[in-house]
Amino acid sequence: MGILGRSAITRKPNESMRLIVTTFIGVVFGFLIGVSFPTIRLTKLNLPSSLLPTVDLTYVEDKNSGASDQTLLHTWSSVQNNKNSSTQAQNLNDTSKIWVPSNPRGAERLAPGIVASESDFYLRRLWGKPSEDLTIKPKYLVTFTVGYNQRLNIDAAVKKFSENFTILLFHYDGRTTEWDEFEWSKRAIHVSIRRQTKWWYAKRFLHPDIVAPYDYIFIWDEDLGVEHFNAEEYIKLVRKHGLEISQPGLEPNKGLTWQMTKRRGDREVHKETQEKPGWCTDPHLPPCAAFVEIMAPVFSREAWRCVWHMIQNDLVHGWGLDFALRKCVEPAHEKIGVVDSQWILHQTVPSLGNQGESQNGKKPWEGVRERCRKEWTMFQGRMSNAENAYYKAMGIDPSKTTAH
Ligand SMILES: *[C@@H]1O[C@H](CO)[C@@H](O)[C@H](O)[C@H]1NC(C)=O
Ligand SMILES: *[C@@H]1O[C@H](CO)[C@@H](O)[C@H](O)[C@H]1NC(C)=O
Ligand SMILES: *[C@@H]1O[C@H](CO)[C@@H](O)[C@H](O)[C@H]1NC(C)=O
Repeated sequence: MGILGRSAITRKPNESMRLIVTTFIGVVFGFLIGVSFPTIRLTKLNLPSSLLPTVDLTYVEDKNSGASDQTLLHTWSSVQNNKNSSTQAQNLNDTSKIWVPSNPRGAERLAPGIVASESDFYLRRLWGKPSEDLTIKPKYLVTFTVGYNQRLNIDAAVKKFSENFTILLFHYDGRTTEWDEFEWSKRAIHVSIRRQTKWWYAKRFLHPDIVAPYDYIFIWDEDLGVEHFNAEEYIKLVRKHGLEISQPGLEPNKGLTWQMTKRRGDREVHKETQEKPGWCTDPHLPPCAAFVEIMAPVFSREAWRCVWHMIQNDLVHGWGLDFALRKCVEPAHEKIGVVDSQWILHQTVPSLGNQGESQNGKKPWEGVRERCRKEWTMFQGRMSNAENAYYKAMGIDPSKTTAH
């Protein structure tokens, strides 16, 4: 990740000096504690040394309070106390111990007021008041899975997203610093892991608790033409029409697979379509409704929380996900739709396909395509097994349900 390491911070000489002095004081103090508590055995003396970095920072933060020594002592002794009393807690019925079952799993020992269960991608300063770090809190998130070769396209795309968007790039080719030629790159988040897919990154880096501050999340491919697209306008339409899962209409050109995602010239959004005869068993079901493709989806916070859970860790291409999105919103044929008046071009650059590997004399993209199909079958299998198991456990006959 392109996050500043501590080593990258250029300290002024007198700052480094202060740090050295601080560390030194810390060491001496640790020693003094050891001396003044002779009953503490040697094994316990190992603890202060691992604590020192923390203590060091505590001191720096509190250097104006003049109470650094007390802070230090408190930090240290409370660790000791906790260590001891945690062993006691198993034996004693101590109501003074904190235990909050409604806290997030694993955090029950914390007072609810200190639990920070959600995060964000907001960049902060290393100085000043934390409350004054952010001049703007972006309400939307856009991610692109990119290779450096597509930089000009991505540069054009990013410019369609205002300052109300956090920009997050997943780099599948390991090239990140080169992107600094673009001014916006310095405020973007860069995640660099070679040869992974959009859904692999999304599962790992877009946990619903991490992206919680964002009203809408765009999870987009790199080969989209955005000339006729404006993100703020798009959001307005999505809100207006109550779309929890959406995509911009695709300009009809060669290679369009589905009627549903084809742009209509005469309206703001559409939520259903006609397909070729026999393709739709039900006009409210994919591919005639409740359906968008996986190349440029946009999720509301709530919808994403559900979809994230549906993404399988090993099925990295996301094939079949488009047909299952409807399971996350209700009624799906009203909350999933295509925005026609903000539309895009799908330029079909087989970029990630070229990241495959030749096997048994097949071309790289053939191996990738084959895996995509296989994953689709596997995903469908898992979904129907899971649903059948659920209905069975509930004592319901699966054939009588609406979840096909
Ligand atoms: C820690 O607790 C045990 C009892 O569980 C007690 O015997 C021991 O003295 C305590 N140690 C300290 C340092 O308080
Ligand atoms: C703890 O206290 C509660 C009520 O005071 C009692 O019901 C419970 O059995 C106690 N548990 C143990 C392990 O002593
Ligand atoms: C960003 O969001 C604010 C608040 O919703 C809005 O007033 C502003 O116009 C937005 N910026 C752009 C460029 O649309």
